[in-house]
Amino acid sequence: MIPTADGPPCMDMPACHDGERPLAYADRVGQWHAARTTARRRKAQGLFLTPASIADFMDRQAIAEGSKVRILDPAAGAGILCCAAVEALAAHRPKPEAIELVAYEVDGGLVASLRAVLGHLASWCRERHGVAVDFGVEAADFIMANAGHGLDCPAGNIHVSAFPDFKEFRKHMANIAWETRAWRRDAPEHMIHFNGDRFLGPRK
Ligand SMILES: C[S@@+](CC[C@H](N)C(=O)[O-])C[C@H]1O[C@@H](n2cnc3c(N)ncnc32)[C@H](O)[C@@H]1O
Repeated sequence: MIPTADGPPCMDMPACHDGERPLAYADRVGQWHAARTTARRRKAQGLFLTPASIADFMDRQAIAEGSKVRILDPAAGAGILCCAAVEALAAHRPKPEAIELVAYEVDGGLVASLRAVLGHLASWCRERHGVAVDFGVEAADFIMANAGHGLDCPAGNIHVSAFPDFKEFRKHMANIAWETRAWRRDAPEHMIHFNGDRFLGPRK
């Protein structure tokens, strides 16, 4: 489990500027938070934030059908991916009437900033697009909070560890849990199955 940050959130958190895009605000808050976190801690909790331009590009591919959309971000950081996805959906035509967003963040030092970012996102979508964003921030470890009972999803949980290449995968191989999958960017068409009962035959 990842340790939560010590102490209360810092009061000098950046405020959003008038008319600032939520994505840009999330990016600024993320960089501010990363700058006051030690390299050791960033590594331990995987605090590597998606650059705003990449989040923007990825989330412009987002398509949602129906008037109500639900989004879950299991490791939200400063909310960069949440903002990019919600901004893209709210600007899409036909637009959804309402977006429900649940964001998990385990780092207690980031939770207040994440709430501020998502609050700005909700105001932005309401004022610019007439779209209601109902958001919740869960200050918890997503995996621990959902282990065992699963999410409200018929597909069940699938846990995937992703690695940039074989060298990095090999370093962590012994620590990958059975019944999970591993994916490598240098061989994106393959999933490596860490077999457990689910993969042992014979199968009907
Ligand atoms: C790689 S960053 C990604 C943040 C954001 N989604 C982005 O793309 O910029 C990972 C963030 O998830 C948080 N995190 C890591 N493991 C988590 C877990 N099991 N549950 C909730 N948050 C987690 C870390 O504290 C960190 O802020």
